[in-house]
Amino acid sequence: MNDWPFSELRQLIDSALEQYLAPQRDVPGRLRDAMHYSLLGPGKRVRPLVVLLASQACSGECAAALPAACAVEMVHAYSLIHDDLPAMDDDDLRRGRPTCHRQFDEATAILAGDALLTLAFEVLTQLAPAALARTCIGELARAAGMAGMVGGQMDDLLAERQQLSADLSTLQHIHQRKTAALFRAATRLGGLIATWDLERTRRELFLAALDEYGAFLGLAFQIADDLLDVEGQEQQTGKRVGKDARRGKLTFPGLLGVAGARQHLMTAYDRAIAALAPLGSPADGLRQLAHFVVQRHT
Ligand code: IPE
Ligand code: IPE
Ligand code: MG
Ligand code: MG
Ligand code: MG
Repeated sequence: MNDWPFSELRQLIDSALEQYLAPQRDVPGRLRDAMHYSLLGPGKRVRPLVVLLASQACSGECAAALPAACAVEMVHAYSLIHDDLPAMDDDDLRRGRPTCHRQFDEATAILAGDALLTLAFEVLTQLAPAALARTCIGELARAAGMAGMVGGQMDDLLAERQQLSADLSTLQHIHQRKTAALFRAATRLGGLIATWDLERTRRELFLAALDEYGAFLGLAFQIADDLLDVEGQEQQTGKRVGKDARRGKLTFPGLLGVAGARQHLMTAYDRAIAALAPLGSPADGLRQLAHFVVQRHT
């Protein structure tokens, strides 16, 4: 991951995440170890970076957005633990290491996921003022829940079982919820925290641009992930490759071929970049991140 930028922000994120798992509370050691394994493993931390860079795009203070960045990464880490379970994608390798349920056991992995999800909302309660905390909690809950990520994951499994029609609009709807919803929430949380004191119409201008960027970046991110499952190298992705086709997943390369998927990836990237136009140069970090998302090998 030497070509991955933002290493300073990443360090900031990792030390904040570390602190949330510091052993000052009465947490069973095994549960804490499993949470730590999945939250602080060698992932890219893309979503918390999106929160911080979205805040930066609105001239916000990084420190103010850090708790929300951590909360979003906690939801992501939980989603990966559960996504890998035998009842879902049944994966044994993530980030070049055994998946959480392989390293520990299934029950511990389920509980570690549960605890990360609930910790995310505990962290958001610390935001001030209370109205900002309430708004951020609502945004993240909606994005992660039944009409967001969890709903998308359900339809991902139903499509794999051929209980949904395998067409482009179904596929887009799955990716918009299982992956892009959390990216949208990441941009919106960063934006909300940075613009909370602005007049409402100005805040909404920022949020509309960030929201659209998040939706297209999230779609691009999942198309890139689908492509890496076809064209990537296990040593680079740290995940098994070729699994989507073996399981009969509904994916962009599966439906449109590699070239068709790449075309949709580039269109989503272009639309993400176009959405940032009203934000000017403070949004350069988000532009750079989008560039890495489409170029990535990991
Ligand atoms: C993997 O996410 C799951 C998808 C939504 C495609 P990442 O590729 O961000 O996983 P890590 O956190 O970097 O391992
Ligand atoms: C995962 O999509 C989406 C979520 C975890 C919500 P995938 O199932 O394609 O992710 P990987 O490939 O296992 O990381
Ligand atoms: Mg999955
Ligand atoms: Mg998976
Ligand atoms: Mg995948």
